[in-house]
Amino acid sequence: MCNTPLHAFLAALPKAEHHMHLEGSLEPELLFELAAKNRITLPLSSDAAFASPASLRARYEAFQNLDDFLGYYYIGMSVLVDAADFEALAYAYFAKAASQGVRHAEVFFDPQAHTDRGVELATIVGSVRKAQDRAEADFGLSSELIMCLLRHLPLSSALETFKHANDAGYFKDGTLAAIGMDSSEKPFPPPLWKDLFAAAEGLGIRRTIHAGEEGPPLYVTQSLDVLHAQRIDHGVRALTEGDDALVARLVASKTLLTMCPISNVKLNCIPSIAAFPLRRLIETGVRFSINSDDPAYFGGYILENYCALQDVFDLSVREWETIAKGSIAGSWCSEERKAQLFLEIDDVVHAYVMENEEQ
Ligand code: ADE
Ligand code: ZN
Repeated sequence: MCNTPLHAFLAALPKAEHHMHLEGSLEPELLFELAAKNRITLPLSSDAAFASPASLRARYEAFQNLDDFLGYYYIGMSVLVDAADFEALAYAYFAKAASQGVRHAEVFFDPQAHTDRGVELATIVGSVRKAQDRAEADFGLSSELIMCLLRHLPLSSALETFKHANDAGYFKDGTLAAIGMDSSEKPFPPPLWKDLFAAAEGLGIRRTIHAGEEGPPLYVTQSLDVLHAQRIDHGVRALTEGDDALVARLVASKTLLTMCPISNVKLNCIPSIAAFPLRRLIETGVRFSINSDDPAYFGGYILENYCALQDVFDLSVREWETIAKGSIAGSWCSEERKAQLFLEIDDVVHAYVMENEEQ
């Protein structure tokens, strides 16, 4: 818990999360439990961090960069094998998110990292769907699933996975809300994925991409120009280093940046939370949301990210209201759901203001 006077308000504030990798919510304890159940050997002989959940957690405190983290992330997810594993993982995230005031979540998964190990796409999406339905029933939490393709694999693999998902009807029937693109960034500039994004655009499928995390602001520009991406995941370097024209373009196009402050610090993309470009985001009017990225690896779910910012930037209730509403406005849910969530935000803000005026 943070020490700011707004902690209870931030916890209660209805939130949307748009940047959370399901595999990145695999806590070390569950990782070890599933490894034992599925008889997966963790690479303890080459890396002492795999001795226990505690030693693994300690290693997570020392990521050097994105690729250093990704090495652990891909080993970790190799313990996910059957439908029950994926459902347990997704439901645990939704339960935690709901406990922190998340009312709508759009979550990522990395199919290629599982299908390459023999797990069927249908197994993954079917079990995540079950968790989504349970979360809706148990917490009233709405959610969408975004299929991310991996940048470190060839375009042909991404195209094949996309075709498989499309042929199965997952975009048409709403099982999948969009495609995304993640994994190692710098060696894989956005134009490499032109054919994939053009195919998705041709079919009217939504598109988002990780860009401007470790890669330069140019990657954000290319994502808009070449890929016609409708959303940018991270984009932090567009704000810390990008010129006014790029920022003005993001504002004018209302492109949502799904930002992840604790992740950015943990992966050394920025030196500290104080370096997170929150003021520039607010002052210029860029549409953005605050997210956890890989909460089990970076030591913070969405509320810890809100609190980390509040500790440093001391925003007002009205500024948080604007951020929360911006995140709802940028969500891929129905207009009806958005209207409902705007009202929920109004209620929480109103209650806070009334209570504090009375004092
Ligand atoms: N996959 C999971 N987390 C990621 C991140 N922060 N950047 C790129 N790919 C990822
Ligand atoms: Zn991410």
